[in-house]
Amino acid sequence: MKGNEKLLTVLNELLADELTAISQYMVHSEMCDNWGYDKLHKAIEKQAMDEMHHAEWLIQRIIFLEGAPVVAKLNPIQIGKSVPDMIGKDQDAEQAAVRAYNAAIRLAHEVDVQASVDLLTNILKMEEGHVDWAEKQRAQVEQMGLENYLSNQAEGAAG
Ligand SMILES: [Fe+2]
Ligand SMILES: [Fe+2]
Repeated sequence: MKGNEKLLTVLNELLADELTAISQYMVHSEMCDNWGYDKLHKAIEKQAMDEMHHAEWLIQRIIFLEGAPVVAKLNPIQIGKSVPDMIGKDQDAEQAAVRAYNAAIRLAHEVDVQASVDLLTNILKMEEGHVDWAEKQRAQVEQMGLENYLSNQAEGAAG
């Protein structure tokens, strides 16, 4: 099924965002592992896997619409130097993703491709969940202090 060219371009832009997020989160996840913050390592690794699913779904959709998925393009990757820095940079990326998916959904409505609207909406909900996760971490750091927050993230910590 031949897709709308403008929509295919936007789907490829979203794909580049997702591939960038996978790399950023894999690095952050492994940095947390190296510091011994096991819970953060696992939580960020799970996010990297969510982004991998998004990339997979976008690739499927682009191929279905007879476009060519561009997988060689990454945007600048923002690596944090500390845990709060990482979470802040990841939150910025997720907020940008929420804006980009909302814009893509508007376009898919305009060009009347309801199936793309549904796919993009499913991904958007997951991105909102990622923003929410980052907000929760920042709230916890603010409320309990960075040292307490980090000691909860180490292996064997309660909670
Ligand atoms: Fe994503
Ligand atoms: Fe995300």
